[in-house]
Amino acid sequence: MKPSLDIADLKEVARRRVPRMFFDYADSGAWTESTYRANEEDFRKIKFRQRVLVDMTNRSLESTMIGEKVSMPVALAPTGLTGMQHADGEMLAAQAAEEFGVPFTLSTMSICSIEDVASVTKKPFWFQLYVMRDKDFVLNLIDRAKAAKCSALVLTLDLQILGQRHKDIRNGLSAPPKMTAGNLANMAVRLPWCMNMLRTKRRTFGNIVGHAKGVGDLSSLSSWTAEQFDPQLSWKDVAWIKERWGGKLILKGILDAEDARLAAATGADAIIVSNHGGRQLDGAPSSISVLPEIVEAVGDRIEVHLDGGIRSGQDVLKALCLGARGTYIGRPFLYGLGAGGKDGVTLALDIIRKELDVTLALCGKRLITDAGPELLYKGRD
Ligand SMILES: Cc1cc2nc3c(=O)[nH]c(=O)nc-3n(C[C@H](O)[C@H](O)[C@H](O)COP(=O)(O)O)c2cc1C
Repeated sequence: MKPSLDIADLKEVARRRVPRMFFDYADSGAWTESTYRANEEDFRKIKFRQRVLVDMTNRSLESTMIGEKVSMPVALAPTGLTGMQHADGEMLAAQAAEEFGVPFTLSTMSICSIEDVASVTKKPFWFQLYVMRDKDFVLNLIDRAKAAKCSALVLTLDLQILGQRHKDIRNGLSAPPKMTAGNLANMAVRLPWCMNMLRTKRRTFGNIVGHAKGVGDLSSLSSWTAEQFDPQLSWKDVAWIKERWGGKLILKGILDAEDARLAAATGADAIIVSNHGGRQLDGAPSSISVLPEIVEAVGDRIEVHLDGGIRSGQDVLKALCLGARGTYIGRPFLYGLGAGGKDGVTLALDIIRKELDVTLALCGKRLITDAGPELLYKGRD
């Protein structure tokens, strides 16, 4: 098999190894997927300034995100059903991130539970919270994240209701998958995935089943979300969540300068400029296109992070040059996981690290903390 040299290569391997329902779950956006595509396309429009004859020895990608040291400013984004891309996916990705020295964020909608991930890691990971109508359950989730010594709570603001993703409906997405003829045929030609899945007991939503009242079968993600997620979530709720949590708080899903100002006023530690990877409001602008105006609005008051469309270390550098302090990757690590489990996640991170390092050097800088707008080409397109 030819080696995977970039994230696009990993995506193609994942396409062959992961059952269609779960590969498509990752590779999809809402409705026409225009925002999903724009996230990647708008990165391509940004160009670098090439600089020459600069001493390139002693380079470093080390930085910090919310005060935590990172080997490069690239965290793993929270992604639901990660344990369906590969058996025990969240545990494997968390271990890969820990060894690499970057933050791992566990989704509320994960397959492996908070406790599962804590049991296989030594350093604290981050926990992403969705707020449900059942507030006892939410309080309990926060307390479980605290007990597991998570070092940041990532509160997602852009999914009170679920954006429609056509592929998930057509594929009848569920976890575990229903044993229909179509699914069986699709899984039968992906034997390593099936064998690994048979070896684990973790095949449904580990943070929820057995913890939320009256939830036994959560197989239909969309109807469960519609019933359980709190559509009334408001800025006022951020205060009690912050209070109950008592630690570092990151607000995820800001795409508008006005919302960024409201977010900064909550006293949170960071915001993530994000449109949920184009999975929620189709027709919204790409994350990278709104980053400058959000940095301009609140960059002096709160740490600004970004996700959406990052497919290379070059994209990471572009986001940093435009004012992001840190970035997150969703699909790139999921493709790595689907392609090769823990080693695949490490490979995805390594690909991004090398691209980031070489690009920084060819732009004439040695320290990632020196990345700024002067590295970007402002001339003709
Ligand atoms: C398959 C998948 C599942 C996701 N699940 C969640 C989730 O449970 N919680 C959340 O806050 N964001 C979720 N997201 C959004 C990611 O955290 C992140 O915003 C997005 O993936 C970034 O875009 P990228 O995939 O282009 O890197 C999910 C994204 C994907 C692709």
